Amino acid sequence: MPDPSAAPEPLLQIRALTVSYPAGAHAGALPAARATARPGARPARAEAHLEVVRGVDLDLAAGEILGIAGESGSGKTQLLLAILGLCGAGARLRGSVRYRGEELLALPAAQLNRTRGARIAMVFQDPATALNPYLTIGRQLTEVLRVHRGVGARAAERRAGAMLEAVHIADAARHLRQYPHELSGGMRQRVTLAMALIAEPQVLLADEPTTSLDVTVQSQILALLRELRERTRVAIVLVTHDMGVIAELADRVAVMYAGTLIEQAPVEALFAGPRHPYSEALQRCVPRLDGPPPQRLASIPGQPPDPAALPPGCAFAPRCAYRLEVCERSAPTLVQAAPRHWKACHYDEPLGRPGPAASTAAAATLAAGEVP
Ligand SMILES: Nc1ncnc2c1ncn2[C@@H]1O[C@H](COP(=O)(O)OP(=O)(O)OP(=O)(O)O)[C@@H](O)[C@H]1O
Ligand SMILES: [Mg+2]
Repeated sequence: MPDPSAAPEPLLQIRALTVSYPAGAHAGALPAARATARPGARPARAEAHLEVVRGVDLDLAAGEILGIAGESGSGKTQLLLAILGLCGAGARLRGSVRYRGEELLALPAAQLNRTRGARIAMVFQDPATALNPYLTIGRQLTEVLRVHRGVGARAAERRAGAMLEAVHIADAARHLRQYPHELSGGMRQRVTLAMALIAEPQVLLADEPTTSLDVTVQSQILALLRELRERTRVAIVLVTHDMGVIAELADRVAVMYAGTLIEQAPVEALFAGPRHPYSEALQRCVPRLDGPPPQRLASIPGQPPDPAALPPGCAFAPRCAYRLEVCERSAPTLVQAAPRHWKACHYDEPLGRPGPAASTAAAATLAAGEVP
């Protein structure tokens, strides 16, 4: 559910976005989830298509950093790819994605290509596959400028060097002549950022930009993103399953579960008082440095559901310590829980105490100090 007060004139406005694939094409069927699918489970089908992103509403304002969190398979990457029309073969997209009021889902391929890279750029989840191993870094950077901005060869090279310096790669002239395999993982990630930013996009979609990096390089990349936002006012959608990264960088956070948004709030509000049991559980998985060391690292028991066998009510209900009887038969929609704070959950009491209908097993888990 969009929050009008957060984005009076959103750069990007997403409404009821749904991505589905032909049922046979589903790439991530989890055997465990299949095995535990309950009787009466409802396949998320739309004309024999499985929905991997389901009815997402989001707004993004200029200069804003929106974090998107969620477990593996929750649809984070598919949501970003859908914005740019880059979903896999056979994908069917419904809903609306507007950039400055222009509907992207209806754009012809050539026009969408111009928007991609020039106005909205993406840093892909795996930097190794985002770079062409056969082309030098310089060639890959200058090509973006020549294709999207029509810049001449000399000027493009100067700008490519300056861009490498902007992402804190020293000795840019030498690195421009190198191939991707000659760089470290951290440098390759910086290069993909430079490639995404060289045409001065207004929106940067960053898919797990720090996951494969060690903590020192990770914090350097996060600092770099913060600096770029301050300097260029680029709006950033930062996808990560690491709530710690969200806490460090994002202004606002949207939490995804099984293809839908289940909570959306300013980052301080979500960390101070999550309203959805899944967000609360995700947050407890972040190790804390203040306080006594935990006996063991928290995790969320159970598996996210297979899109082919969603439970009939709330998709999180089978793993939820707060679940009520209604959760098993009706899927909650996003409602406003506080100013700028939205949640999709039937449980209306403050979190911290599981509801009366919580299963004995889940309550016992909570009592034992584990994440529900
Ligand atoms: N080309 C495809 N065809 C069919 N299903 C797909 C395809 N690509 C992804 N999916 C399915 O879409 C769902 C969401 O995948 P997605 O990659 O968006 O998850 P994610 O949240 O980005 O996970 P991760 O944190 O592991 O990157 C998964 O069930 C996945 O198997
Ligand atoms: Mg992903």
